[in-house]
Amino acid sequence: MLKTAVMVSGGGTNLQAIIDAVSEGRIKGVQIVRVISNKKDAYALQRAAKAGIGSTVVSREDHPDRREFDEALLKALDDSGADLIVLAGFLVVLPAEVTRRYAGRIINIHPSLIPSFCGEGFYGLKVHEEALKRGVKVTGATVHFVDEGCDTGPIILQRAVSVEKGDTPEILQRRVMEQAEWKILPEAIELIAENRVVLKDGRAEIV
Ligand code: GAR
Repeated sequence: MLKTAVMVSGGGTNLQAIIDAVSEGRIKGVQIVRVISNKKDAYALQRAAKAGIGSTVVSREDHPDRREFDEALLKALDDSGADLIVLAGFLVVLPAEVTRRYAGRIINIHPSLIPSFCGEGFYGLKVHEEALKRGVKVTGATVHFVDEGCDTGPIILQRAVSVEKGDTPEILQRRVMEQAEWKILPEAIELIAENRVVLKDGRAEIV
């Protein structure tokens, strides 16, 4: 069993996609051991509760000191006993202590085709606003390993999605989620559970 902790900040539709994939047997050998949120009111926490998954909140309100917050995050992850950490709409840049301790064991879903529209300041709806502003005709989503940079780690899976005439950021976000994110995130977890993702020369290869 690949013990997996899922980190969230908001609605948790990607968390739901993982929960559904596990419960419907589309991904095997994976157990979600904990959901960790930096927001007390994240709807994702209700999704976890409904699925019978324990959750931990590590918020800046409870830990105004950044160092303390970082230590609490690390402790929550260590306590979960997770072998894999999935950032599913977790909108906090992880401290280096975490990325170092869990090197090669943290993945993130990003709502664009990296290296487009990524890095600091590119998260959530903003990514789609920028894609529409630039007038790209194709966008998509990326699952990648998390290193000490922002959206710079080895890419595991990507899926392209068309931009359509009349798209708003909200419409485009929904299409990217439906056609790409909710599919490739569970797929990447399954590949990792099957030991089919190998890091080589700074790149992730599917074997
Ligand atoms: C998703 O679109 C995810 O790709 C994005 O936040 C959204 C969370 O939605 N993540 C980032 O932008 C990370 N840089 P969800 O809470 O419904 O899964």
